[in-house]
Amino acid sequence: MEYDFDELIDRSGTHSAKWERTAQMFGSDGVLPMWVADMDLPAPRPVLEAMRERLDHPLFGYTYPPDSLYEAIIDRMWRFYGWQVKKEWITFTPGVVNALHIAIDALTRSGDEVIVQSPVYYPFFSAVTNNGCQVVNNQLHYDGVQYTMDYDDLRDKFVPSTRFPVRSPRVRGMVLCSPHNPVGRVWSGRELEDMAAICLENDCTIISDEIHCDLLVDDVSHTVTSTLGAEVQDNTITLMAPSKTFNLAGLGASFVIIPNPQLREQFAVAAAGHAKVNAMGFVAMEAALRDGDDYVRQLNAHLRRNVEFFSRRVNRLSGVRVVPPEGTYLVWVDMRGLGMDDMQLRDFMIERARIATDFGFAFGAGGEGFQRFNLACPHSLVREAVDRLETAVSKL
Ligand SMILES: Cc1ncc(COP(=O)(O)O)c(C=O)c1O
Repeated sequence: MEYDFDELIDRSGTHSAKWERTAQMFGSDGVLPMWVADMDLPAPRPVLEAMRERLDHPLFGYTYPPDSLYEAIIDRMWRFYGWQVKKEWITFTPGVVNALHIAIDALTRSGDEVIVQSPVYYPFFSAVTNNGCQVVNNQLHYDGVQYTMDYDDLRDKFVPSTRFPVRSPRVRGMVLCSPHNPVGRVWSGRELEDMAAICLENDCTIISDEIHCDLLVDDVSHTVTSTLGAEVQDNTITLMAPSKTFNLAGLGASFVIIPNPQLREQFAVAAAGHAKVNAMGFVAMEAALRDGDDYVRQLNAHLRRNVEFFSRRVNRLSGVRVVPPEGTYLVWVDMRGLGMDDMQLRDFMIERARIATDFGFAFGAGGEGFQRFNLACPHSLVREAVDRLETAVSKL
């Protein structure tokens, strides 16, 4: 099945946050939306067909996840990631951010601490603070080319002399972004092992947000954190969803895999009373995971072409540098060389470049002076963005 990812699809009238909220959010008309992480690309045809078929039935009462959905997840985890998942490990939530809130609630009590690695997807911070906990930041290290984890700093988060008079008993969890939004790293098995070992030594549960796991734009493979060994698997809550890969975010359907029965029980208690996945979400999720492999292959080829084109052209601009992404469709651009502070850079992007991006400072410490561009769109829109940026920079 071939997909034409270069077709421009008019999204007006769909209440698309990306297209129909941009003027309001950025305070200006005619700004090209390259911010929120959804794609201007159609969902896979098997998903649309399955949803149409479901619509032929006129009833939408309470729905539970069918066995065939569990099978689709188990089969895909094995085929893509060599992970043998058991049915009872799987649970469903209407979104990964929702699952993240539940996981933190399950692991912590008010006043506890949770580690994140900034610059990072900003709802990680609020998921911690909304649960009455403190963010402990293990900032990523950037050497001007690529990002790495700072293991010494991570270890220090648990060391008495640097934080508390006794070994801090309060760091309960770490939220890992893998692949990492916004810096685009697909962490290697070795990197994940080093990080996971520190967490294990310190009884720190890993909440591994792997929503971007299928989106690989470089010659790398994704390692599921839980496949690093039995101990790590027992210490990890994995969050996944078809929403980024297959552009289904508006359906609110995601899944959580928790092999450890005690953690699973804690998660189930914390999830009580939360909203559930809706009937159409289950249908879409199953079709995408079971019948979406050729979509993923073509999508990654399309994204890679967009990323290569964008990087080649943008890297020619003085003061602007693309951080080469390995995964996700989000490209993190170092614009510190333009010599602007964050507010000046924001105004420059909106008023001069006329592009709506996610502002780097929102991603926490280390995000200042950067912008995040979403390149999951037809090639013509990437070209338009690059032309706009080039013109704006040339006038500085
Ligand atoms: C790392 C990460 N986690 C979670 C989400 C959002 O997931 P959901 O819409 O399922 O809540 C995003 C969206 O961009 C993301 O980048």
